[in-house]
Order: sequence, then C-alpha cells, then structure tokens
Amino acid sequence: MCSTDFLRAKIERRKLSMVTCYDYTFARLLSKSAIDAILVGDSAAMVMHGHSSTLSMTVELARLHTEAVVRGAAGKFVVADMPFLSFRKGLAAALECAQVLMRAGAQAVKLEGVDGHEDVIQRMAQSGIPVMGHLGLQPQSVHAYGGFRVQGRSDVSARDILRQAAALEELGAFAVVLECVPANLAQQITQALQIPTIGIGAGGGCDGQILVLQDLLGMNMDFHPKFAQYRIRSHHGGASSGPCVSGGTMSPRK
Ligand code: KIV
Repeated sequence: MCSTDFLRAKIERRKLSMVTCYDYTFARLLSKSAIDAILVGDSAAMVMHGHSSTLSMTVELARLHTEAVVRGAAGKFVVADMPFLSFRKGLAAALECAQVLMRAGAQAVKLEGVDGHEDVIQRMAQSGIPVMGHLGLQPQSVHAYGGFRVQGRSDVSARDILRQAAALEELGAFAVVLECVPANLAQQITQALQIPTIGIGAGGGCDGQILVLQDLLGMNMDFHPKFAQYRIRSHHGGASSGPCVSGGTMSPRK
C-alpha cells in the first residue's frame, strides 16, 4: 500500500481500512492483518498516556511512537499525526515537524483543518510528503467546540466542511479523515471529492473507515463508541485475520 493506492481503491470502489497504533507489539500484530494502513494518531496522548485531550502530544512523543510502530509494522502504510500547533507556527516549523516524522519512518502525515495553514499543506504535498487531511470533529480544537461534539449539523457548518474538503483536495491532500459528522454530509463529501474519505463516526458512506485500535478491541473502559464493534481475536488466526471494512463499517474479520 502507498498513498497513490488510496486513490486507486476509491476508483475501484474498494473500501479502505485503517486503525491507530502507537507501539511495536500491536504494530507486529497488525502487520499480519488485512488492515490497509496504520495511523500513529495523536490520540496516543489520551490512549497511551492518560491525558484528557490530544493537546499534550509533542513532536518528540510522536517521533518515538512512530519509530516503534514502523519497527513492528513491516509492509504497512504508516501515517503519523502532526501534533497540536506543530503546523501553525509557520511554514519552516511545520516542515521541520514533518521531516522528523517522515525520518522516523512514516510514509505520510495527517493534520487537522485547512484554514490558515493552506501553505503548509501545499508545500508538504509539493515536497513529496503525502498529506492526509482531517475535518469534522478536530480533537485539537476541543476547547473551541466546548467538548467532543458532532460537527456539521447546521447547514452553514455542513457547507463549511464541504468547502474545506474541496480545498484540501485542491491543495494536494491524498485522502481526508471525516470525524463525527452526519452520515449524509459524509456521503455528500465522498461523492464530491476525487480523493478518498476515511470516516470515523461518519456513517457507512465514506470510502473507508478508521478506528482507534483500543476502541475496536473494546479495551477502553470509559468509552464504547457505537461505530466500533469489538471482539478480541488471537493473532493465531494467521495472515488473513484482522479488522476489515465491509458494507462501509469496520468490524473484526470472522
Ligand atoms: O489521533 C487519532 O486517533 C485520530 C483518529 C481518530 C482519526 O486522528
């Protein structure tokens, strides 16, 4: 899998599957699964370090988690999240962060939003760094929202997310995560874009799905998102075991 395969999958109408991963051991298990790609998400700040938001993620932590995942995830496409504000301190600082993550072994970076850092997205894409966008609920903006809330419910907000999705495609992003938006909006964006949409809490109409691995496995004691069906499987299932996307939602492969 590589970034251009995302576009091919959309053209061929093959659903894409992604999960987060933050460590070597899970990465090794995922390397034996059918999952298409792995995100070293800044959700590591919450899932691995117990913080209440992703704002505590740093570039150094992102580098360490990315290196560990890359060591274990042989053959998998690995995307690393750009931490809070790392892409908002000017072009040079953003490129420094992307350089750290790519040198840690990531094959792409993901960053939230688009307005105000269009130059960063465009320069990275033009510099050979595949960029994945992230719209809808952007967890790094949790305090601006007043909580982790569904986005795009009003017409104005839905139109704005659609506009940003089109801008991302125009700037050179190869895919976009849509988090916690109404299913009909996610479907509308999916139809409007040539690049694939990867949904989380955005219904079954996206081109792929992404889940936090610990949610998929039912390991989160406080949060059981209804879009994550979970069942723990042993890795002895062999190379074909692992989560898969079918009918637009992700579930463990039987
Ligand atoms: O960091 C993360 O886990 C993410 C996913 C929720 C898409 O960005």
